[in-house]
Amino acid sequence: MCLVLCQLLFLGLNLASLAIADDQFIYSGFAQANLSLDGTATITPGGVLELTNGTFNLKGHAFHPTPLHFRQYPSGKVQSFSVTFIFSIISAFPDKGADGMAFLVSTNKSFSSALPAQYLGLVNNHNNGNTSNHIFAVELDTIQNSEFQDISDNHAGININSLHSVQSRDAGFYDEKNGMFNNMTLISGEMMQVWVEYDAGATWIDVTLAPVKMAKPARPLVSAIYNLSTVLTDIAYIGFSSATGVINSKYCVLGWSFSMGNIAASGIDMTKLPKLPHARLRPHSKVLKIVMAAAIAASVVVSGALVLLLARRKLAYAELREDWETEFGQHRFSYKDLFLATEGFEFKNLLGAGGFGMVHKGILPTSKLEVAVKRLSHESRQGTKEFITEIVSIGRLRHRNLVQLLGYCRRKGELLLVYDYMPNGSLDKYLYSEDELSLDWTTRFNIIKGVACGLFYLHEECERVVVHRDIKASNVLLDRALNGRLGDFGLAKLYDRGTDPRTTRVVGTMGYIAPELVRTGKASPLTDVFAFGTFLLEVTCGQRPVKQNANGDRFMLVDWVLEHWKKGSMVETIDKRLQGSCNTDEACLVLKLGLLCSQPFASARPSMNHVVLYLNGDMPLPEFTPTDMSLNMLALMENRGFDPRGVSYPQLMTCIGTM
Ligand SMILES: Nc1ncnc2c1ncn2[C@@H]1O[C@H](COP(=O)(O)OP(=O)(O)OP(=O)(O)O)[C@@H](O)[C@H]1O
Ligand SMILES: *[C@@H]1O[C@H](CO)[C@@H](O)[C@H](O)[C@H]1NC(C)=O
Ligand SMILES: *[C@@H]1O[C@H](CO)[C@@H](O)[C@H](O)[C@H]1NC(C)=O
Ligand SMILES: *[C@@H]1O[C@H](CO)[C@@H](O)[C@H](O)[C@H]1NC(C)=O
Ligand SMILES: *[C@@H]1O[C@H](CO)[C@@H](O)[C@H](O)[C@H]1NC(C)=O
Ligand SMILES: *[C@@H]1O[C@H](CO)[C@@H](O)[C@H](O)[C@H]1NC(C)=O
Ligand SMILES: *[C@@H]1O[C@H](CO)[C@@H](O)[C@H](O)[C@H]1NC(C)=O
Repeated sequence: MCLVLCQLLFLGLNLASLAIADDQFIYSGFAQANLSLDGTATITPGGVLELTNGTFNLKGHAFHPTPLHFRQYPSGKVQSFSVTFIFSIISAFPDKGADGMAFLVSTNKSFSSALPAQYLGLVNNHNNGNTSNHIFAVELDTIQNSEFQDISDNHAGININSLHSVQSRDAGFYDEKNGMFNNMTLISGEMMQVWVEYDAGATWIDVTLAPVKMAKPARPLVSAIYNLSTVLTDIAYIGFSSATGVINSKYCVLGWSFSMGNIAASGIDMTKLPKLPHARLRPHSKVLKIVMAAAIAASVVVSGALVLLLARRKLAYAELREDWETEFGQHRFSYKDLFLATEGFEFKNLLGAGGFGMVHKGILPTSKLEVAVKRLSHESRQGTKEFITEIVSIGRLRHRNLVQLLGYCRRKGELLLVYDYMPNGSLDKYLYSEDELSLDWTTRFNIIKGVACGLFYLHEECERVVVHRDIKASNVLLDRALNGRLGDFGLAKLYDRGTDPRTTRVVGTMGYIAPELVRTGKASPLTDVFAFGTFLLEVTCGQRPVKQNANGDRFMLVDWVLEHWKKGSMVETIDKRLQGSCNTDEACLVLKLGLLCSQPFASARPSMNHVVLYLNGDMPLPEFTPTDMSLNMLALMENRGFDPRGVSYPQLMTCIGTM
């Protein structure tokens, strides 16, 4: 009897820790919480609410599952409320984060039309500031966006329907004793606590921030007078929104407490808080380092042995194959063939590893054809058929300047792509190697023309428009005769397939990503042309698209070439290894064309058709001067005639600079 009673009591207590009443709740960790999540938001098994997951340009939301009544009747006014939460922002870089998170109260919990990055997943460029949004938010912003008059890249702000804060302050708190202001760094990865309080009588909003170990400071960080009765509807959801931009930060919430009316939100139980996921590693001592290294080594050996055993046993040649695949017969390779071809994916056959996976050389058993086999991790899920259909359709594209995709093979969690083998490897190793491997100008010019033809084919000549999305020197491979061939075409698309084009992450490589691609996430032939422009400069200058000078400062290759052109010294930017042997007229044509292609305004870039004509000397380059280009940049910086959606150019540049 007593046992039953005790159990009931225990159960009751447990439930109470999740939801006390309709207008009051506490989450000390989210392991048992039933939040309504969307986008990148997830709850880790440990109970941390991760609003973003460390992928670029995405958004995530989490709401208390049921909406609350915010208005009190008969007056019909929005009541006082109080909320507190504990959060942590973990950025990939110690001094730069993106973009931010917000606590919010909103009528609508569907934010499908909101944009990521500086829009924080709250609004988009059309509805920012619109009173029909009915959103009250407190933003924790780690990027300074001039279009929203942000005060810094580390501030808290009170926002009504808009990203332009009513009031905002740099993150920090006022010391109780001496009244001094102490700075805090939002992206430090430390746990911090926020209190948001609305006093209905005075229509007063207070926001207070403090490190998690501290009691609530008496003096709030930022306050505003705003009558929320003019903003919120009676029934509204409360929750969090967060978005990443060009930098992949993680926004985590660990605890959350809310109370309607004039009662302060109950304290969050600090002892029950979940552990933060992968905070930046700080090895504590040498002993720890050695122990960790030993443990890792041991586990590698053990798991290696296990994997070997398993592989030897039943999994050796296991693969996934479904009925619909029979129509792709000739494009479907058996895993056994690929395994034998690459001698079991032997290390000695490893050609390289890229962002998507490892590449091995192989010789097919029956045809004795030399191939390159690329292994990608791929979760089989709905849409696999479309995925494979896309790959087969890519495989049907044929051009002498493309690396032929011969076919594919599917295993559990894995996809293998089979390409023609390119004996001379990728172009980047010739551009940056110190030894004698360097290519002469004639060869480089030939490669450039080849790549241009390949891209022209993808954009305009084949039966549908194929956007490459990842043009760069390492994706240009050289065949036996040192002709340039584009690899990896169409592949990037498969990795952001199927979602809203405005919310897809930007696939590409820093320095090759056109500004509008960062803003809209939408790749087009003109974003390819931008990357091709960078590629032209890279090949002619023999330098990486993001350069570093002796002081360690980073800057863009495009700007450097433009600067030299202004000073009349463009010839000096040509690769030193080409000295003497180089046709400077051709090289300067390529450099200018590179600048023309890499213009920030998409509409000012030439099409690949024109690029091919310019390169072959069948059409002269249009007249333009370095000043024209600088003016274009300036116009972009001032946002003149510029789609305000998205990151501004200078901001993008600093982001890239810090990377
Ligand atoms: N068809 C091929 N023939 C010969 N070598 C290849 C072939 N494909 C790839 N490689 C080699 O494998 C390496 C890795 O290729 P992969 O395309 O995966 O990476 P990447 O282009 O460097 O980066 P990303 O995956 O971001 O495009 C290349 O640098 C190249 O040296
Ligand atoms: C993050 O979430 C997105 C969308 O939900 C998903 O496509 C992506 O793979 C996730 N990234 C990681 C690192 O889990
Ligand atoms: C979780 O919330 C959903 C909808 O808000 C509801 O249907 C479901 O019953 C809830 N589950 C639990 C375990 O509370
Ligand atoms: C909520 O917003 C979504 C898009 O963000 C919209 O489609 C939907 O109609 C809205 N619902 C209401 C009730 O306004
Ligand atoms: C605000 O949004 C409403 C509904 O979406 C729309 O009808 C109205 O035109 C918008 N107002 C402004 C100023 O954009
Ligand atoms: C706090 O930050 C502000 C703005 O970033 C800066 O001007 C000030 O010097 C900082 N103060 C301290 C004590 O670090
Ligand atoms: C707030 O707005 C509501 C509705 O517009 C109004 O009835 C109320 O008087 C306002 N409160 C104050 C203090 O101005």
